[in-house]
Amino acid sequence: MAAPPARARADYDYLIKLLLIGDSDKIALIILPFNLHFVSTSAGVGKSCLLLRFSDGSFTTSFITTIGIDFKIRTIELDGKRIKLQIWDTAGQERFRTITTAYYRGAMGILLVYDVTDESSFNNIRNWIRNIEQHASDNVNKILVGNKADMDESKRAVPTSKGQALADEYGIKFFETSAKTNLNVEQVFFSIARDIKQRLADTDSKAEPATIKINQAEAGGAGQASQKSACCGS
Ligand code: GTP
Repeated sequence: MAAPPARARADYDYLIKLLLIGDSDKIALIILPFNLHFVSTSAGVGKSCLLLRFSDGSFTTSFITTIGIDFKIRTIELDGKRIKLQIWDTAGQERFRTITTAYYRGAMGILLVYDVTDESSFNNIRNWIRNIEQHASDNVNKILVGNKADMDESKRAVPTSKGQALADEYGIKFFETSAKTNLNVEQVFFSIARDIKQRLADTDSKAEPATIKINQAEAGGAGQASQKSACCGS
């Protein structure tokens, strides 16, 4: 049988959907005579900035509160395989505590982000994990991220040891990052991508080789198989 046309070949070996989860800007509504004011009482943990840093290599100090559904793509290479990362920012839904199953659907990995200068964002990680347990698939990979590690020690509210202890309690990896200085940003994304790729490869080897699934999908006859394989993103 003739080989499938080149244009039909996937430009990746694995498609991995990741989510960034963590507290958003907290906004207070102040009612004054004849006037309503929205005041930001504390900044978000830096999810959008981490995404921007990893996908575009840039950082902004201005508020870029996410109001629409947003994802970015970056393809990386791991052990000779092309891993296409589709990374979703939570679009500010977490402000209303309404992240639902629809949002988690298909997620293979979740970055749980807190701000090392904001203790309540750290305390909320347990709530986020409960939310994930309710709505995401059981085998989703998680990683704990303490962002804004560049901030002055006098501003720090969560010691590194506390972050590590929480990660150990849940049996997940932990990094402190800075979207501002690019500390550990690549490491976080590569680490979770590597773990997910390993999990998918293990699943594949128990079923059938991933390469066969990709070829079947290219031939147009194996939608089901490609769904179950590593390349099952939307
Ligand atoms: P929402 O969009 O409201 O969910 O917030 P978010 O979690 O996406 O936070 P965002 O990325 O908008 O960052 C909030 C603020 O923190 C911005 O003013 C950023 O400039 C700042 N910020 C983000 N990451 C860092 C960091 O690593 N270091 C420092 N010093 N500031 C950061």
